[in-house]
Amino acid sequence: MVDTSDEWIIKRTGIKTRHIAQNETTSDMGTKAALQAIERSGLAKDDIDMIVCATISPDYFCMPSTACMIAKKLGISNVPAFDISAACTGFIYALATAKAFIESKMAKNVLIVGTERLSAIVDYTDRTTCILFGDGAGAAVVSASEKKEEAIMDVHICADGKYHDYLITPGCGTNKPCSEEVLKERECFIHMKGNETFKVAVKTLTNDVVDILAKNGIDSDDISYFVPHQANYRILNAVASALKLKKEQVVVTVDKYGNTSSASIPMAINDLYESNKLSKGDLLLLDAFGGGFTWGSALVPFAPHS
Ligand code: ACO
Repeated sequence: MVDTSDEWIIKRTGIKTRHIAQNETTSDMGTKAALQAIERSGLAKDDIDMIVCATISPDYFCMPSTACMIAKKLGISNVPAFDISAACTGFIYALATAKAFIESKMAKNVLIVGTERLSAIVDYTDRTTCILFGDGAGAAVVSASEKKEEAIMDVHICADGKYHDYLITPGCGTNKPCSEEVLKERECFIHMKGNETFKVAVKTLTNDVVDILAKNGIDSDDISYFVPHQANYRILNAVASALKLKKEQVVVTVDKYGNTSSASIPMAINDLYESNKLSKGDLLLLDAFGGGFTWGSALVPFAPHS
């Protein structure tokens, strides 16, 4: 499709394979992940009292939200359901939202979903972006607990809109409504200043994870797994090296799935879970960076249903 090579892609990004949805929407994939998460949580669907979906590739432009579509497909009604738009940091924003609603006692069991059909918003004539993104979904249930050792230790989310045009879909919003010109210029697809984004991502993420560890008195050795957003192997490796993490502490799935934006962190946690590497009490350090720019990190003990 474009002038590139397998060698270039692997060397610059670490990506070897990606998955592309054929006949599934973003909410179809999110619903599958959600069903699995609810089953593993040991709860019934009726116990879910809020649905938060992080996505930048919603089923519908503007409305209805993908969270509403997931609620419909799960058969859950009469609970709040809404989307979060924070690009690749979406899952950490969803986690922060769940934590805040639970701590304020406005919810008990929040389903959070990160799901993306990025192949629908990628320009397959642009070699600087089309080699990066893939499709997928992941989900988790965040529940209230009286046990201190099960509590999310900390979540940090942040943004800086001055970088809004580094990673942008320029057309089809109210800034530049859909028109023949927008379509001709391919402005309804993702545009990225890749190299500039790379540099800000490495610096911002490194500062962010160093801060969250210091603030919580956590040493790199205390981290069971570092689960970074999977955008580029070179970015996650630079952050892991700054923390002096051992190879076995760093979760890498970018080689298998590419960049799946808000789905990448829950998909990576799922990979750990399904390969029986996760044990109760394992401390996960999450971090992500994405369009906006947005970024965030979290310290989360793995607290499975028992
Ligand atoms: N194949 C071959 N050559 C390419 C390709 C390609 N697919 N893409 C770009 N090139 C060329 C460029 O044209 C350039 O050529 P030139 O030197 O003749 O001008 C050269 O390769 C180097 O380009 P750079 O952009 O400097 O390459 P870089 O090493 O920065 O890698 C990449 C590009 C992979 C995009 C990297 O910058 C990156 O990962 N950026 C960050 C992505 C990210 O983290 N995004 C945030 C999350 S995504 C979200 O929120 C949705």
